[in-house]
Parts: sequence; C-alpha cells; structure tokens
Amino acid sequence: MFITFEGIDGSGKSTQILLLREYLVKNGHKVVTLREPGGTELSEYIRAVLLNKKLEVSDISELLLFQAARADLVKTIVLPSLDQGRIVLSDRFFDSTTAYQGYGRGIDMEIIEKSNQIGSLGVLPDMTFYLNIERSVGIDRDKEKDRDRMELSGDEFYDRVIHGYDELAKNESRFITIDGNQDVKTIHALVVAEVEKLINK
Ligand code: TMP
Repeated sequence: MFITFEGIDGSGKSTQILLLREYLVKNGHKVVTLREPGGTELSEYIRAVLLNKKLEVSDISELLLFQAARADLVKTIVLPSLDQGRIVLSDRFFDSTTAYQGYGRGIDMEIIEKSNQIGSLGVLPDMTFYLNIERSVGIDRDKEKDRDRMELSGDEFYDRVIHGYDELAKNESRFITIDGNQDVKTIHALVVAEVEKLINK
C-alpha cells in the first residue's frame, strides 16, 4: 500500500507521517517512510542541488531533476518495499511536481504528466492526503528556518501551487483533503480513520 502526503511547505506533513508510522507499527504493520526528493544516495545528492539557493536552475532542468530523483527512489525503495507487503508513506510524490512545476512554474501540463509517468515508473499512490493551509500559515510555521531555493520562489508562486493542489483535490478521487489548520491530534485521527478504511477494503 502506497500513501502519500502533499501540501505546501510548513503544512505539517512530516509530523503526520511520523504519527501515522507510529500508529501503523503499533498495529503490527511493516512501514517504510520516505521524503521526496531524497531517500537514496543519488536522490539525496539531487535534493541538495535542487534546494541549493546559490544555484540558478531552469524550470525544465528543475523538473527533470525531480523526476530523476523520483525514478531512483521508486526503483530502489518504493517498488521493492511494496513487493514485500510493506506500507510505504511518502512525504510528497508526483502531485508535488504537478503543483510546483506545473501550476507554480507554469510548465505545460502535457509535459508534466508525461514526465510524472516516467519518473514514477508508473507507480500510483493508493491514497493521497492533502493538508490544506493558507500560504501565510505555512510561511509563519517555517519562519525560523533558513529558506531553501524552492522556498525563495515568492508569494505568487506559492499561491499558484496552492491553486494547483486545490485543482488536484477536485479532480483526483484518491485525494483526501484535510484542513491543516486543525490541531495535530485531530488531523491524526482523521488520517487514521481513512487509512483504516483503506486497509480494510
Ligand atoms: P521539503 O522536503 O522541505 O518538502 O522540500 C522539497 C521542496 O521541493 C519543497 O519546496 C517542494 C519542492 N518539490 C517540488 O517543487 N517538486 C517535486 O516534485 C517535489 C517532490 C518537491
């Protein structure tokens, strides 16, 4: 089973993944948690390039780097883990590319979709949680952090990314939108309820 978490930076995805992992392990499941980009030696190198604010990266180069990192992660970890019957939880997957590089950077959607198929090796999440917050909340939660190259893309960019996620949530039946302004425990309970439904299907 493959479950992904999406939302803008600072939406609380990583906290929810940790809590869900804890819950699933307690209930006897074998769980693998990942973050994108990253998770393999090659993908971590690519992550460092993508987030390095000293580098100028063109939009298409950025897209291809995210897909290169993804392809390595899927081949090395996601597919083998799913074959072994593990539950894979990922902090971001190709919906991030649709939201950030498609809606955010404005790359043609046909290119985005084709590249998503290539980068994911055709793997599709069973369920995707979208933690929906306003841009100001995400930025506020992250204010202590030194901003990386993506986070320096500006308010209008983030508004387009949020619009992109909202569109995905409308159009993709695997999307479950959760109001990310609620407290951590409330969100966790909502996530667990949906995951239990999926497990018992
Ligand atoms: P994060 O691990 O802090 O979420 O950092 C990853 C950054 O990369 C974040 O700003 C979202 C961005 N991103 C994309 O733009 N496209 C993608 O496909 C992925 C996976 C992440």
